[in-house]
Amino acid sequence: MDKSWFRKLRCGAFLHWGLYAIPGGVWKGREVDYIGEWIQALLRIPNEEYSQLAREFNPVDFDADKLVSAFARAGLGYLVFTAKHHDGFCLFETQYSDYNSMNSPCHRDFVRELSEACARHGVKMGLYYSHCLDWHEKDGCDPRPVGKNMGLCSWGNDWDFPDQGEKDFGRYFQGKVLPQVQELMTHYGPISVFWADCPFPDVTAERARQLVDLVHRLQPRCLVNSRICGVEKMGDYGTLGDNEVPAGVSPEDFPSEGIITLNDTWGYKRHDHHWKSVRAVEGILLDSAQAGANLLVNFGPDGQGNLPAPCWDFLEELARWHRQVGEALHGDGRNPLPQTLSWCRLLGRGRTLWIFPTGKAGDSASLSGVEGELASCTVPVERLPNGDWRLSGLEELAEKNLPAVMTFREEPRYDHRLRLQNGILTLAASQGRLFHGERERKAGEGAFVGPAGETMGDAGHSFMTPMGLRNWGNPQDSIQWTCLLPAGKYQIRLLTRQMWHRKPWESQRKVRLEVEGQCWETLLRPDQREAENLYYQGNYSRLASLELPRDQEVTIKLATREEPEPQAEIRLEALEIRRE
Ligand code: GLC
Repeated sequence: MDKSWFRKLRCGAFLHWGLYAIPGGVWKGREVDYIGEWIQALLRIPNEEYSQLAREFNPVDFDADKLVSAFARAGLGYLVFTAKHHDGFCLFETQYSDYNSMNSPCHRDFVRELSEACARHGVKMGLYYSHCLDWHEKDGCDPRPVGKNMGLCSWGNDWDFPDQGEKDFGRYFQGKVLPQVQELMTHYGPISVFWADCPFPDVTAERARQLVDLVHRLQPRCLVNSRICGVEKMGDYGTLGDNEVPAGVSPEDFPSEGIITLNDTWGYKRHDHHWKSVRAVEGILLDSAQAGANLLVNFGPDGQGNLPAPCWDFLEELARWHRQVGEALHGDGRNPLPQTLSWCRLLGRGRTLWIFPTGKAGDSASLSGVEGELASCTVPVERLPNGDWRLSGLEELAEKNLPAVMTFREEPRYDHRLRLQNGILTLAASQGRLFHGERERKAGEGAFVGPAGETMGDAGHSFMTPMGLRNWGNPQDSIQWTCLLPAGKYQIRLLTRQMWHRKPWESQRKVRLEVEGQCWETLLRPDQREAENLYYQGNYSRLASLELPRDQEVTIKLATREEPEPQAEIRLEALEIRRE
């Protein structure tokens, strides 16, 4: 399966749109406090009442061409559109449900309109299809024992269809999902992505495989995302959890895709004005790109088909930035060094290295571990006696989020050892080796994709994800890094992150750090909470002061001492070593 187009494009647009856009988060004067497309489940609105929206649905302002051409200009090279979301309403012509937009006053097939616009503007067309949850159907998945979505509402429709004994998921899957996916994969030309969501165990490995096979048989080049199956690793690439940003490296053969909202909802909500700045999104885009991951940026048009005004401003600004950085961003460039740098984001491809300073280091900073004959550099640069490159003129670039560009005569050689960069070494969890006792655990061991797309693991074991170490609670588990450190004094801090959406960082965890025979046991404290990440709060805890008498290669070992309380689950993202 050729996945190179996907990695090369790097970013795409997510389009969440359906009947839920009409109420826009408000039902009979009641405002919902969670994502807009969940309004029916949040307020337990009976199908009889909710489906009245289909009789009103006439989005006269929806203009596929205008949307897709704006996405194309902004460098969002593929589109994923909600052909059917959890409410079951289909935005395409189908023989397998009357509940579709051709039967609404508009009589329109939006998958057709968008796929034609995509073909005109060179954007790859992809489809989101809720293959497990379907609130309109009695037989749609109803995973009651799993508990509630965010503790707020049922996952499946248990308000219209309370009798679980009467439900037959297989009937829904065979009678609606497979035939509709067949329609979607045959009627609209090339489809590049099939995006499934919320795979509860009713989607057995066998059913998921059937669906994947169907997609691949009808569209051999179409990539399927990992949310297709929750019990086995499947699909062609891994979708991260909602609004997660990768902190490690995405594997070549199973690329990652992050997905972000522009405000706090996927489907339109009239009262959500909590917009991210274009700068913040550019940052997430670069964080993803340097980790080798894609990013889908979400848009939620209103009930008339209009995008909220801030989205248009956003698209225009993104297009402007894209004209300047598109060459760096596309083409599967990524950070060629083994560590992320605290003062910049890096993208390397061929002879070129794009360095996007973040402003954290001030106007100049040094880069280590890059060897080669420099042909040109867009900022003043000096080669230091130790081989580092000292770049300056960075502040202005940081302000505009533009890169310094270093071009070498030949592809430079990158040092793959972990070493200080401008006085700081960030050891991402995913760069470390994971052990259970003496035994090394392989990458991906014991991990699989959970119902909302999150990575899950076997109970009682840690496992590595592109976001860091999860389930980090077994005192037998440790993580180890080997790195080069010059003689000197260092402060060591640990970055951990809350794994639940919007819960504060808190922890009672004690960790044990070992460096070359020295050992520290520390209770993690909220020493410095991160301000930037809106959804999953990060925190730096001070662990130790280290003094090294000579330059040396050191092995660093970190283990947790106590089982954390399940409510306060935090994951280990990185260890930071900072020269004093
Ligand atoms: C969640 C929600 C869904 C949304 C999706 C986007 O899984 O259930 O409404 O479409 O995230 O990733």
